[in-house]
Amino acid sequence: MIQANILGELHQIQELIIALVEDLDEKSFRSQYHPDLSPPGWHLGHCVYTECYWLQEVVRGDNRVTAALEALYTPARTPRPERGGLLPDLDHLLRWAQQQYTDNLEFLANLAPPYTEHALFRENYLPLFLIQHHSQHYETMLMVLTERELSGDHSGYEVRHTLQPAAPDHETRSIAAGHYRVGGEAPCAFDNEMPPQQAELGPFDIAIRPTSNAEFLCFMEEGGYRQRDLWSEAGWQYRCDREIRQPGHWRQNTKGDWYGVALRGPCDLAPEEPVFGISWHEAQAYAKWVRGRLPHEHQWEVACRLHQLESTGRVWEWCGNAFYPYAGFRAFPYPEYSTTWFDDNHFSLRGGSLHTRPPVRRPSFRNFYEPEKRHIFAGLRPAF
Ligand code: AVJ
Ligand code: FE
Repeated sequence: MIQANILGELHQIQELIIALVEDLDEKSFRSQYHPDLSPPGWHLGHCVYTECYWLQEVVRGDNRVTAALEALYTPARTPRPERGGLLPDLDHLLRWAQQQYTDNLEFLANLAPPYTEHALFRENYLPLFLIQHHSQHYETMLMVLTERELSGDHSGYEVRHTLQPAAPDHETRSIAAGHYRVGGEAPCAFDNEMPPQQAELGPFDIAIRPTSNAEFLCFMEEGGYRQRDLWSEAGWQYRCDREIRQPGHWRQNTKGDWYGVALRGPCDLAPEEPVFGISWHEAQAYAKWVRGRLPHEHQWEVACRLHQLESTGRVWEWCGNAFYPYAGFRAFPYPEYSTTWFDDNHFSLRGGSLHTRPPVRRPSFRNFYEPEKRHIFAGLRPAF
C-alpha cells in the first residue's frame, strides 16, 4: 500500500503541471521560447509519458499507451525544435493527460500483489521518484514561461526604486577542518546523491548570504565584465561571443534604471534579494572579484547541514566543481538519469530557487547544468 500523503504529493504536482498548460493558448503551448527549452506542452506530455512508462510498461509490461509516444517524449529521440509540431491539439493533450494521471493514481492507490513485491516499489521508491521528476519539470516550465515573458518589450517599465550598487558584504562563517557526512539516502535520494559518505574538508569560510542584486550591480559598474583577469579562458570567450554585460533577465529602461523580467512580467530588482540569471562563468568572475572562489559542493552541503547558511533555497547556487559520480555510484533507475551528465561540462548547483518545489529541496540534492546556462534561476555564494 502506498500512503495517502505520497499519493497526495503526486496528485498535487500533476495538477500544478496541468494548470500551467491549461492557461495557455493553442499557439504558445507548442512554441519554443529558448534554444535549451522545450515547448510548455511537451513537458506535460513528457511527465505523463514518464509515469506511464514506469507504471504501465516497466511494472506491468503494458506498452499500449507508451509505444507510439516513446519517440516524441524521450528527449534524446526528438530534437527540441521538432517537438512543438508533433504535439497533439491542446484539448486532446489535456484530456489524455488527465485520464492517464487518474489511471496511474488509481493503480498506485490500489497497489496489490504481485506489484507490492516489485523492487521498484520498495520503500515507495517509484512514486517518490515520479514526484521529484515532475517537480523538476515544473521548475523548467517556469523557466519556459519566464522566457516567454522575456520575448516581449518592456522598455517602458518604470521602477519604483532605482537599484543602487552596494559594496560586497564580507560576512562569512568559518567551518573547521574535519570529516563530515554528505549525500542522500534511499528512498528519496537520486542516484547521484549516493552513496552517503564522509567528506574530508580543510578549513574554509563561506558567505552567510548569497550575492545580492545590489552587490552584483557594483561588480558591473566597477567593470567586472571588462576585467579579463577575473575570467577563465572559456568564460572570457563566452562573455565576448555573447556580448554579455548583465544577468540574463536584467533590462535597462529608457531612464537607465535596471529592472528584471520575471514570470509575471517586468519588476523591480530588490537590492537585498539574491542575484540570479547568471552563468557559472559570471559566478566565477564575481567570486574572483571579491577575492574568493566558488565553494566545492561538499563545502556548501556541510555548511548548510551545520545551519551556517542564510537565505538558501531562493536561487540555485553555482559550485566550483564539475558534476561527478560519488565513489561507489550506481546508476538508477535508468542509466541516463545522471551518467550522461558526468561529462566535465556540467557544474553542480545546490540549494534551490523560489520556483523549486519542496520534494527536491534538501541539503544533498545536486542540480547540474552547463557553465554557460543563465535561464535556470542560478546565482552564487562566494567561499574563501
Ligand atoms: C537535474 C534538472 C538538470 O531537468 O534536465 C528531468 C532533471 N532528468 N528529467 C533536467 C531531469 C530527467 C534534470 N536536471
Ligand atoms: Fe524528465
